[in-house]
Amino acid sequence: MPELIARTATSDYQVLIQQGALGRLGEVTAANCRGRMAVVVTDDQVAPLYLKQTCAALRSSGFTCASLVLPAGEKIKTMEYLSQLFSFFHEQGLSRIDPVIALGGGVIGDLAGFAAATYLRGVPLIQVPTTLLAQVDSSIGGKTAVDLPQGKNLVGAFYQPRAVVMDPILLHTLPRRRMSDGLAEVIKYGLIADLELLQQVEQKTFDLEWVVTRCVNIKTHVVTQDEKDSGERMLLNFGHTIGHALEKVTGYTGYSHGEAVAVGMVTAAEMGERLGLTQSGTAKRVRSLLSQYQLPLKAEVAFADLASAVHSDKKRLGGLIHFIFLRQAGEAFIQPIEPEKLEQALREVWAHG
Ligand SMILES: NC(=O)c1ccc[n+]([C@@H]2O[C@H](COP(=O)([O-])OP(=O)(O)OC[C@H]3O[C@@H](n4cnc5c(N)ncnc54)[C@H](O)[C@@H]3O)[C@@H](O)[C@H]2O)c1
Ligand SMILES: [Zn+2]
Repeated sequence: MPELIARTATSDYQVLIQQGALGRLGEVTAANCRGRMAVVVTDDQVAPLYLKQTCAALRSSGFTCASLVLPAGEKIKTMEYLSQLFSFFHEQGLSRIDPVIALGGGVIGDLAGFAAATYLRGVPLIQVPTTLLAQVDSSIGGKTAVDLPQGKNLVGAFYQPRAVVMDPILLHTLPRRRMSDGLAEVIKYGLIADLELLQQVEQKTFDLEWVVTRCVNIKTHVVTQDEKDSGERMLLNFGHTIGHALEKVTGYTGYSHGEAVAVGMVTAAEMGERLGLTQSGTAKRVRSLLSQYQLPLKAEVAFADLASAVHSDKKRLGGLIHFIFLRQAGEAFIQPIEPEKLEQALREVWAHG
């Protein structure tokens, strides 16, 4: 049974990845916090599927269980819903030792996580990620946030959960597009650090519990090394500079995050080949992998719009942009590069896309 420990500068926490793990939620929560009143935060698509089972698991370990069901979607990652959570916590009499359970995808994880980080200056948080994206990415690493009208994730905190409970069985109810979204991140992990994972995904022979465990291993390893997002953690942003720019240009409606990252990964691989930084043939492999999972390889966006979004997104360090390239499939590196050179490579790839 894969049971990992994520280590950060401030805390260690258990990550349980197992078929049927949801049934062990009460036991894991009891082992990691003293309170006996649990508040579950979830959304209206997840609640009908898994809320009953979640509360039953908590009750079987002696917790009382209150739940708040919010509308599904990014639109709830706001200050307004955050204050709705605070009111609910207060109404329920949540104390500093009582756990908040985030049951849902990355949206619920980010919102309930930030609420737990700030209510009473921090109450225990247990993440129960229910999307592939949340299992392999957002529930690990301690980033929590809400959006502002001015932009995504502008207010938030680094706040580590007491434990993360991942049940791959929950992924069977995900719509296909959501599954592909998560697979884009899985492919990213394979491309930057894990050739065996990449091969399994290519051959479509994988078992989800194994895939999630491999990805979480990479993320916990990187996060352990680098809690506050510099250095090695930047490798996790492979495909994301262009992906984020694409999401921004299309007003966060045209492409899902995973789809935008897919286009970003193909583009970065092709730019790397043009610049002589990436082994030739890598981009072709990236393309065929992504298309196996119905992920897009290019986007109908004007180069000028994309380039200006890339520039506004990138932190520049000493006049250079730090961009993530692949050396080959399974290995990524950070390359400081002049903005003009990067833009030229992007222009050429975009024109030929
Ligand atoms: N904190 C981080 O490090 C981090 C990293 C990446 C992304 N994020 C954030 O994550 C969010 C996206 O997360 P997401 O892709 O999980 O989206 P999401 O939370 O909106 O979930 C996607 C949809 O799937 C539904 N759903 C969830 N689990 C289901 C299941 N098991 N069966 C059927 N339907 C289910 C949800 O109701 C929702 O409609 C964004 O807000 C993004 O900013 C955060
Ligand atoms: Zn991502």
